[in-house]
Formats: sequence, C-alpha cells, structure tokens
Amino acid sequence: MENEKTVKKAKVVAIYHRKGGVGKTTLTLCLAFGLAKKGFRVLIVDSDSSANASGAACSEDITKTIRDLFLGVPIGDLIYPSIDPNVDIIPSCFALSTIEPMLISEFSRESILRDALESIKGKYDVILIDTKPGVETIPTNALCAADEVIIPIFGAFAMDIMDQIFSYFKALMSPRLNPNLMIRGILLTKYDDRTNMSKKIKKVLVKRFGNKVFETTIPVCIKLEECTMYQQSIYDYEPGSTGAIAYMEFTEELLERWGWN
Ligand SMILES: Nc1ncnc2c1ncn2[C@@H]1O[C@H](COP(=O)(O)OP(=O)(O)O)[C@@H](O)[C@H]1O
Ligand SMILES: [Mg+2]
Repeated sequence: MENEKTVKKAKVVAIYHRKGGVGKTTLTLCLAFGLAKKGFRVLIVDSDSSANASGAACSEDITKTIRDLFLGVPIGDLIYPSIDPNVDIIPSCFALSTIEPMLISEFSRESILRDALESIKGKYDVILIDTKPGVETIPTNALCAADEVIIPIFGAFAMDIMDQIFSYFKALMSPRLNPNLMIRGILLTKYDDRTNMSKKIKKVLVKRFGNKVFETTIPVCIKLEECTMYQQSIYDYEPGSTGAIAYMEFTEELLERWGWN
C-alpha cells in the first residue's frame, strides 16, 4: 500500500559525534524504530566498526557488510531485514577499520557511500547512518552522504569538543565534499534534570547554539541498554519506560522540524 507520507527520495541523516559512548547508536535505533512506528520506511546504515547497531537490529545471519561496499559490492546485496518490518539495515563488522588504509589512494574516496545510496533512495523515506567516531575516511563518507546531521551530547563534555566537531563540519562543507550538509540539531542524551550539571550543560548549549538544541531531552534509562541485549526496540521491550517516551517525543519533534507531521 502506498504510504501517504512517502517522499520520493529518502532524507539521509547521519548521527555523529567525534567520540564513542555518547548515545549515537541508541539514538539511531530509537529514531529508526520510532519513525517506523509512524509508518515511515527506514534504512539504517551501520558505518561503525563496533557494529553495535547491527547486533541490536539485524534479524538474520550477516554474511556481507558495509565493508564490502568499499570493496565494490553493489549496495543492494548488503541490505538485510531488521527486527522491525519497516526497517532494513546495512550491517557493519569489526573488520571495517582495515578498509581505512586501503582507501587512501582511492579516487573520490569520500563519496563512495553517497554515490551508492543514490540507487536505493527511492525505496526509503529516511536513511539513518550510525557513524564511527573520528574524522577519517569512513566517518567522512557518512557525513558526505548525509543531507543533515544530528549530534548526541551527554555528560560533562567540554565545549572544545563541540568546536572540534563544528570545525570538522566546516571542512566537510567545502564545495568538493558536502556543501549542503545541514546541522539539524543537538540532542541531550542521558540527561538528568535533577542535577545542576545537566541543567548547566543545557543552558550553555542553548546559549551557544540556540534552537539547534532539541527541546526534548533523553533521560538516563537502563531499559534503553537492556532492550538491545534482547534484540527488541525500546517501544516493544518497555513502551512505558521514560526512554521510550522521550525517544518518541524526540521522533515527533524531529518530524515537526522536517514539516512531515
Ligand atoms: N539514555 C540512556 N540511558 C542509559 N543508558 C544509555 C542511554 N543512552 C545510551 N545508553 C547506553 O550507553 C552506552 C553507550 O551508548 P551508545 O548508544 O552505544 O553510544 P555510542 O554509539 O555513541 O558509542 C550503551 O551501553 C547504551 O545502551
Ligand atoms: Mg555506537
């Protein structure tokens, strides 16, 4: 059945932070399954060699991964079903990192993923790319393929990390790479509104980045960690949890910002 909300070409969104452990994968999964609940067709591209999104979402044995894309395998051969019928996934693997040195001499190496995604954009409403922390060729591929980027932030981060992230984005926005990359927003993950530290961080971010900071914040919620171990989305595992409620609110806030609701 044709979904009324179906757009012609998928919107490509990268979830990026320079560091690990900030909630990128959790955000990718909860947003993908949240969008799926709203009736959208979603593809997750796991471009992190830790392959956490693949482990949590892929419902079949994996024989091919995004690594094969960089070795010339057609992207259509790398798509797997996930635990949600509205979500597909291109999985990753630990060996992805070994590709980095091989890509050094490759022509147009930053746009391999972007070029490949072109052929499947018609099948999805949204393509979410979970990224590998860092600034090497693989994360650069993710950000060159993206229309927009969301940055998860948590804890007592230093503002200089944000400066590093934004100067990386600035370099990516050069005419040769991705001049149209849009910074969609910053999401506070593992946010505890009872602590002064959390409140202070939000205040500092809002002062600096204004309405780029999403109004929704994600609380610390152990169910978000548990559900991945049981290969369930948070909405199936514990729909009444604070994590499920907050991530659905975030999904709705994002849809509103996109003008899709
Ligand atoms: N809001 C949250 N509350 C509690 N644990 C969380 C929350 N968000 C993420 N986690 C957990 O924190 C760890 C790091 O999150 P993850 O999404 O894997 O970060 P990244 O992809 O940036 O490395 C994981 O074990 C994850 O389950
Ligand atoms: Mg991750």
